[in-house]
Amino acid sequence: MSPAAHRIAVIPGDGIGPEVIAAARLVLEATGLPLEMREYPAGDACLAERGVALPEETLRAAKEAEAVLFGAAGETAAEVILRLRAELETWVNLRPARALAGVDCLYPQADLVIVRENTECLYRGLESRLTPEVVTATRLITAGASRRIARFAFDYARRQGYRRVTAIHKANVLRQSDGLFLDCCREVARDYPEIDYQEVLVDAAAMYLVQDPGRFQVMVTTNLFGDILSDLAAGLIGGLGLCPSANLGDRYALFEPVHGSAPDIAGQGRANPAAAIMCAAMMLAHLGHRDQAEAVHRALAAAVAQGQTTPDLGGELDTLGMARAVAERLG
Ligand code: IPM
Ligand code: MN
Repeated sequence: MSPAAHRIAVIPGDGIGPEVIAAARLVLEATGLPLEMREYPAGDACLAERGVALPEETLRAAKEAEAVLFGAAGETAAEVILRLRAELETWVNLRPARALAGVDCLYPQADLVIVRENTECLYRGLESRLTPEVVTATRLITAGASRRIARFAFDYARRQGYRRVTAIHKANVLRQSDGLFLDCCREVARDYPEIDYQEVLVDAAAMYLVQDPGRFQVMVTTNLFGDILSDLAAGLIGGLGLCPSANLGDRYALFEPVHGSAPDIAGQGRANPAAAIMCAAMMLAHLGHRDQAEAVHRALAAAVAQGQTTPDLGGELDTLGMARAVAERLG
């Protein structure tokens, strides 16, 4: 008897989202795994057509699925991807930045993983206009969220064979909030004596990432710093087109490229689908298909190494053409 199909909610979103998602789907279909993928609307176009950026039907489908594959958020990012992260209670945003062989980039040896806290910090939306000319934003940091993200980072390092975890912070200024975050990281670090635990200020971390990224392996940090540093890390390995991410919680998992909707190139078939294809691979691993996940990754790496890429990486293929080059290697 064939195994029950995995139910995947696919949310292509805006701009290049639908293009890179079509590419990722083509690769997923080539794995031959039983996947039941259904698409649901969300985003700017959805808002224009239906008057709502994240329809209830889409949210329900995301909660009923075994995993969610998301394309890109546009102007309505706060109502769509931030709301999905909150509703699905995905408290980890896992962002690996590993250079693929053959990509001309600043740091070909890079192998970094940013573990970004995904529920609090300035992303909580706690802003108030006190007067027309004075606004405050509250940075929420709790011990519970800090401890669990630190524990995730150390467990991830242990599982994946990384030897160092670095907490990124600004506790010299944000004494209370990042002070608490660091206390929690230190407390958790004691349970992982074999892992080298370090702390680096976020501004210094930005410089070291450019000058000597090899000093980092797993970086654990609060939401906003994680957002900024993950784009920096993308810049080291050849750009946002190459960075996938996984939003993980106790019940749900949502996979999305780190890149946005790229309205400047949308609709031209030029978007690099690598990040979306790597998201598909991360999703397969999450669903328990580690071998196929690795096969997808190897197929992508081989296509890139042989120049079968979109123009941003020097190739001549369009988005679907690159996906086909990956899919053919799985056949
Ligand atoms: C990301 C994006 C989002 C974020 C935006 C679109 C809200 O930049 O996934 O990194 O800030 O988290
Ligand atoms: Mn970002």
